Amino acid sequence: MTTIGIIGSGRIGSNVAKAAVAAGYDVVLSNSRGPDTLGPLVHKLGPRASAAHPAEAAHRGDLVLVAVPLGKLDEIPADALAGKVVMDANNYYPQRDGRIAALDDNSKTTSQLLQDLAPSARVVKAFNNIYAAEISEHGSPTGARDRRALPIAGDDSAAKHLVASFIDAIGFDTVDVGTLAESWKVERDTPAYTQRTTREELEAILPTVERVQQA
Ligand SMILES: NC(=O)c1ccc[n+]([C@@H]2O[C@H](COP(=O)([O-])OP(=O)(O)OC[C@H]3O[C@@H](n4cnc5c(N)ncnc54)[C@H](OP(=O)(O)O)[C@@H]3O)[C@@H](O)[C@H]2O)c1
Repeated sequence: MTTIGIIGSGRIGSNVAKAAVAAGYDVVLSNSRGPDTLGPLVHKLGPRASAAHPAEAAHRGDLVLVAVPLGKLDEIPADALAGKVVMDANNYYPQRDGRIAALDDNSKTTSQLLQDLAPSARVVKAFNNIYAAEISEHGSPTGARDRRALPIAGDDSAAKHLVASFIDAIGFDTVDVGTLAESWKVERDTPAYTQRTTREELEAILPTVERVQQA
């Protein structure tokens, strides 16, 4: 059975954990303050959940989720992500994260920042385009009518396939937006951002998206 290692167990991390546990996955949660502080969440999630320090969560994960405030990205144990399939949920909010020049001038996407920190990780943009609580609320079975679709992006096709399988198992279709360089198409304030769309609706929006300067 696949284990999901989670770095950042706030709103996104805890809701991905909840959906993953409901679908039969094991989860290893971590945060900045240590595993003891995650006791209540682990208890609530049940026997499939455990807590660890971030590096151990990454080591134990077959898939790893990074869901921390973007301004904290360089604090995570990037070495522990080597070779891992890593789902990157992070978005850029300058008022929270501070100004990041490479995002302000559009020379990088948020996921490319993570890829730069962990060059051999197989980074896939995922879960950045949905409100956290909806991850554990909006899922529906494969093939369901009006099933919600989430965008993914990445440079490694096999990694994207694994992430799409996980997202399908927890209740969502996926739409492949392209490479990490192209993942700006679903970053903050783009037309599909946080919209509840089916696969067809999301596919129709993506070709219309234009890149704007970060505000
Ligand atoms: N909330 C949403 O609806 C939503 C939707 C899509 C994408 N996102 C994006 O997803 C990311 C996470 O958002 P969130 O709302 O889940 O944030 P959050 O609720 O504030 O949780 C952040 C988590 O990151 C942990 N963290 C901070 N620094 C860390 C470090 N150095 N090492 C390990 N863990 C660390 C925090 O742990 P401590 O509490 O111990 O510091 C906390 O568990 C952000 O980039 C956000 O923009 C959020």
